[in-house]
Amino acid sequence: MEAKKPFQFANNTVLCLSPDFILPEEKRPCLSEVSHTNLVPIIDLKGYGEDQKSLVQNVSDACKKLGIFQVMNHGVPKDLCESVMVALLEFFQLPHEERAIYFTRDFTKQVKIFNYSYKGDDQMKVTMWSETFTHPWHPTQDFTHHLPTKPLQYRDVFTAYAREIGCLMNRLFSLMSKGLGLEENSIVRKLGERPNHYSQANYYPPCPEPELTMGLNEHNDITALTILQQLDGVSGLQVKYDENWVAVDPVPGALVIILADQMQVLSNGRYKSPVHRAVTNGWLPRLSLALFHAPNDETLIGPIEELTDEDHPPIYRNYRYKEFMKEFYRQEGKRRRVKETFKL
Ligand code: OGA
Ligand code: NI
Repeated sequence: MEAKKPFQFANNTVLCLSPDFILPEEKRPCLSEVSHTNLVPIIDLKGYGEDQKSLVQNVSDACKKLGIFQVMNHGVPKDLCESVMVALLEFFQLPHEERAIYFTRDFTKQVKIFNYSYKGDDQMKVTMWSETFTHPWHPTQDFTHHLPTKPLQYRDVFTAYAREIGCLMNRLFSLMSKGLGLEENSIVRKLGERPNHYSQANYYPPCPEPELTMGLNEHNDITALTILQQLDGVSGLQVKYDENWVAVDPVPGALVIILADQMQVLSNGRYKSPVHRAVTNGWLPRLSLALFHAPNDETLIGPIEELTDEDHPPIYRNYRYKEFMKEFYRQEGKRRRVKETFKL
């Protein structure tokens, strides 16, 4: 494939679709085969309180079938959702020099910008058509001083958004616990003290050849739970169901809930951690903001005892989360299958 002509990013850096970004043929997204159906449920959380039972049922059905759903009336104020996205867009569109302090290859850095890449069986590295900015989101007082001062509103807006997402996460954990027939605090208790909260903002500039590239390669989230906001009007997120890719198109005002690997393990396989990816498009920049909840390194993870018995033996062995992370890093660059190595 010949190098294409330089492409102008919104942030005024020039990038070409160099061979670094081009996927081997069998790994390309086949965009025309992606279905746009209403498979992924949209759940209205307004019923919380009054119509608990059907809400618990809807959430638990979605967790069991797909492990991904969208929520409406989730309690996170609309203007806050919008302003955190505006702040992030401004951040990603700052001149390169102004963001340079965050660029690093050191994965232990807590606040950083990096690019994901993927290595195929031939060990050829392909860079994803995206830029990722990550940092912790709780407890805020410990890290606010490391967050960007440009745009000016970033720290305040992000902190307020993170607080609201924290409340929503707790509500979801409680609904999900009940959906497994457990006490409402069971999942949070099992996920342990001092959880690790970090965020990941993904910026996908328009791409001259969306069929040849990937925004984020197919993966499972490895944490426990993800709450993701996507920019209105720009599609890109897709989930794998029955070997087919299904678009999770943005719904105005909704947030996407993605169950991650620890949830599949805790629930002894009842809840699913879905395979998902993000593709690029030729016209519009796309932005998504994911807030993750992960256990701390020492937390012992394994199927919740009440969910196992003679008829339902544990599918996964117990492990400390740091063992899981070690395996995750061991599979660096590949299409990872981390929880599979903890199967009994
Ligand atoms: C992620 C992710 C998808 C998206 O950040 O883990 O899956 O829509 N993002 O950007
Ligand atoms: Ni993900």
